[in-house]
Amino acid sequence: MIEVKGLSKSYGQTKAVDGVDLSIGKGELFGLLGPNGSGKTTMIKMLTGQIKPTSGTLKVHGINVLEDPLRVRELVGVIPEQETPPSFLTAEEYLHFVAKIRKMEHYEKVCEKWFEFFDFGDQKNSLCKDLSRGTRQKLMFAQAFLHEPELAIIDEPLINLDPVMQRKVKDFLQDYVRNGGTVFISTHILEIAKEICTSIGIIYRGKLVYKGRLDDPVLQGKNFEEFFLELVSKRKGISKDMLEGTLKRVSAIA
Ligand SMILES: Nc1ncnc2c1ncn2[C@@H]1O[C@H](COP(=O)(O)OP(=O)(O)O)[C@@H](O)[C@H]1O
Ligand SMILES: [Mg+2]
Repeated sequence: MIEVKGLSKSYGQTKAVDGVDLSIGKGELFGLLGPNGSGKTTMIKMLTGQIKPTSGTLKVHGINVLEDPLRVRELVGVIPEQETPPSFLTAEEYLHFVAKIRKMEHYEKVCEKWFEFFDFGDQKNSLCKDLSRGTRQKLMFAQAFLHEPELAIIDEPLINLDPVMQRKVKDFLQDYVRNGGTVFISTHILEIAKEICTSIGIIYRGKLVYKGRLDDPVLQGKNFEEFFLELVSKRKGISKDMLEGTLKRVSAIA
């Protein structure tokens, strides 16, 4: 579903993504892990054709993203980082709007199911600008899966959701891949990846420092966080203490 070779993106001197090779097959729930600023969002923006790589090739659904980004976005469900629905539409209008763009028929019932699933039907006539951040994230989630895409790409899916909704979303994503879907998520929260992903990649300073399955023997019996720290602290220029400090701050924000 995703095939990336030698993918890089530079902003001036900053190598946001640096020579990433990655292949993700059907039915995987892939988690791209890494601390803040490591290149996760940049990867997702390239995969969804929002920005062009500096070098490298990438195919999504077998389509060259550089040649046909529109076709990729037609097929794939996407939740960009910190994206919110348009302020001037009601929650329901927004979902109907997306359904029409997706050329869906009989979408009213499908939209209704999402209001039920996330338990916010009472707010479907509220303007998006008046919704809480969590509710807007629910709406973003619904729009991404509305047309039942074979592949969904989500930047930090659980951000702004309360624990009950987080549980729902995690279960939903696991069911989705069990039923043949493929999901690519990014997260800086190790516990999420550990709990739901079938395979992971760890990105640090733009480089993919680990990729593999979560049942990889190399990971067995190890504290996942220690393994993560071990891997990224091996990279030049950062001490384990510094990194632990960063991760603590990140978890505090999360
Ligand atoms: N538009 C941009 N212009 C300049 N630098 C950027 C831009 N987007 C991202 N970066 C830099 O690229 C690096 C990776 O950022 P990002 O992909 O957002 O990381 P993550 O999503 O893992 O937090 C960071 O150093 C960030 O400051
Ligand atoms: Mg990000």
